[in-house]
Amino acid sequence: MKIDYTSYKDVDLKGKKVLMRVDINSNIDVENYKIRESPRIAALVPALEELKESAVIIMAHQSRPGMEDFTDLDIHAKELEKQLGREVKFVKDLFGMDAVKAIKKLKPGEVLVLNNVRKWEPEMKGYDDFSVAENTEMVKTLYPLVDYVIVDAFGAAHRAHVSIIGWPKMIAGPITEKELSVLKKIIEDPDKPMVMLIGGAKAIDKFKAMKFNFDNEKLDYALCSGLTAILIFESLGKNMGEPNRKIIAKDLEVNKDMIRETYERYKDKIILPEDLVIDDNGNRKTITIDEAATYNTTTGDIGPKTVEKFKEFIMKSKTIIANGPPGIFEKEVFRESTNEMIEAMVKATKENDALTIIGGGEMGAAASMAGLSDQVSFISTAGGAMLEILSGKDLPMIRALREKKP
Ligand code: 3PG
Repeated sequence: MKIDYTSYKDVDLKGKKVLMRVDINSNIDVENYKIRESPRIAALVPALEELKESAVIIMAHQSRPGMEDFTDLDIHAKELEKQLGREVKFVKDLFGMDAVKAIKKLKPGEVLVLNNVRKWEPEMKGYDDFSVAENTEMVKTLYPLVDYVIVDAFGAAHRAHVSIIGWPKMIAGPITEKELSVLKKIIEDPDKPMVMLIGGAKAIDKFKAMKFNFDNEKLDYALCSGLTAILIFESLGKNMGEPNRKIIAKDLEVNKDMIRETYERYKDKIILPEDLVIDDNGNRKTITIDEAATYNTTTGDIGPKTVEKFKEFIMKSKTIIANGPPGIFEKEVFRESTNEMIEAMVKATKENDALTIIGGGEMGAAASMAGLSDQVSFISTAGGAMLEILSGKDLPMIRALREKKP
């Protein structure tokens, strides 16, 4: 991956109108319509402080169409305002009349958040040919209204979406610069062994990126939990129960053989859970893998034997990256093992001088909730993107920054 871009520091942004594409995709408490903890919004605060002499228009996404946390960005604007300590405007529009009017009126020192860019259907098509994205209505409407476009959506750098690669000229922002300065070490010359804790959702994306990293000999071990582990177990013929299976059914159908073959090839490196936890009337009940079918309910966490095994790998590694929580930590009954993994990373940082990185919206939120964010080496805004960055793949956002320098 060739990192070559024009930085926001290379141009004079004072008094200018700047469109900034960021990743503030957050963990949302849907019932109460509020953001739980957002390390990504926290990372945006110092970035905006650096741009406080510009008029900044924020463009971002939340979740994906069809998901229950696919919300408007009014709650993000509110949370940003709280953390930033100054007014943050919001317009429930992307490039229609209301958005255009609000952008035209915006003055230096002000911040405006546009609505969820993924509410605009063409956004999420993959665009290998960047010029097709450049010719979309959104780009043609918004681009002439601003002086610069900063693309700083580091957590979504692996997506060739219009708002990430479609601007005729674009520059890198403070979040990307900071992330690259820290991640350079693990991209170029990681201290070994390097282990990754893989959990949370988006199992097939994570599995494929993990495979790529094994194929390229980047990664030594992957501690698989959450839906990634369910996907692997089911591919190996284990019955994990209907409630688990139905979440990964589509990916399983298409990728079963690839997953089984990959597991066979790397079975010494792919570390799977030995026990899991279910919710037994509000209490944690530990079950074996074989019992998952009998209880026929969602398994929400890894059990104590697995925690011990994962800790051993964490304590013997020099680079530890956590990507996705091992449990559904939003629910108190399933939070314990996620916290134990974060605590083990803190211990490895202190006792072994290991480089410990927590990535992504979910695991970052879990670390904040546990009050441990400042005790690991770095909280990255990249989750899925991290796995791809590690492998050295030329990510769409990095390629676009290189090819579209002003
Ligand atoms: C993430 O949370 O990993 C990024 O915001 C990208 O989201 P996506 O996987 O829905 O594209």
